[in-house]
Amino acid sequence: MPTVLIIGAGPRVGQASAEAFAAAGFQVAVASRKQNTGANYRHYTFDAAEPDKVPALFEKVSADLGIPSVVIYNAYKGGMTPPDSPFELGLEDFQAGLNVNTTTPFIAAREAVKGFEKLGPSQLGPAGGTFIFTGNMLNISAIPGLMAFGMQKNATANMIRHLALAAYNGKPYKFYYADERHADGSYVTTDLSGPGHAELFLGLAKNAKQGPWDHTFVSGKGYVEFPQQESLAWYP
Ligand SMILES: NC(=O)c1ccc[n+]([C@@H]2O[C@H](COP(=O)([O-])OP(=O)(O)OC[C@H]3O[C@@H](n4cnc5c(N)ncnc54)[C@H](OP(=O)(O)O)[C@@H]3O)[C@@H](O)[C@H]2O)c1
Repeated sequence: MPTVLIIGAGPRVGQASAEAFAAAGFQVAVASRKQNTGANYRHYTFDAAEPDKVPALFEKVSADLGIPSVVIYNAYKGGMTPPDSPFELGLEDFQAGLNVNTTTPFIAAREAVKGFEKLGPSQLGPAGGTFIFTGNMLNISAIPGLMAFGMQKNATANMIRHLALAAYNGKPYKFYYADERHADGSYVTTDLSGPGHAELFLGLAKNAKQGPWDHTFVSGKGYVEFPQQESLAWYP
């Protein structure tokens, strides 16, 4: 049975993804500070603000359930400033966000790839290994009040692009920055769809081919390419 590790599993994306992957025959490991997803899934207490704890998380999950062939990184730390004061975020807050949104994903991707290499083509199966980072449109747009969060998501988007297009191009590993949008291309907020993410994630995991790494998608519809939007108002 293949294993999926969901880092940052809560009631929406995490829960729906756990359900979808379990129904598809995966062993499911969920990691978060609190147990949010019910007792059906093996929970690991983990704080994404501590990047140095990532290797131990992967070791434990691998020992308990098997090396993950799918890793979903869904933890995040937002943080708004007044729109006209982007530097009003203290250094400590900036660095905490940097850990959760950038540094820990870097280590998680590293550990995921180590696992893919250990599994090798025979155990990965025809679909290969998959690493998905839950993003938003801050990798391509300036949104007032969200400069630091955007810097951090964008740094990870850059990592995903590099892994997909340069480092592992040609290997049976896939890397995605998933960005849900409304059908008109505007960004989702609290109306984000957990099941929409889960359906997309499972489809990406099952598909052997690397699709567009910057995976802008509409719930229930899948990948949609939208025109570039360099800057946006808050809640456009
Ligand atoms: N496409 C868009 O425009 C858009 C819009 C909104 C959100 N998003 C993205 O969607 C993702 C979250 O979606 P969601 O809220 O629906 O997911 P969720 O699975 O319902 O919740 C995410 C879980 O992450 C966990 N988490 C947060 N900080 C963590 C930390 N430091 N260490 C470990 N776990 C942590 C939290 O659990 P604990 O508190 O128990 O740790 C939380 O329950 C984020 O990546 C966010 O940026 C995208």
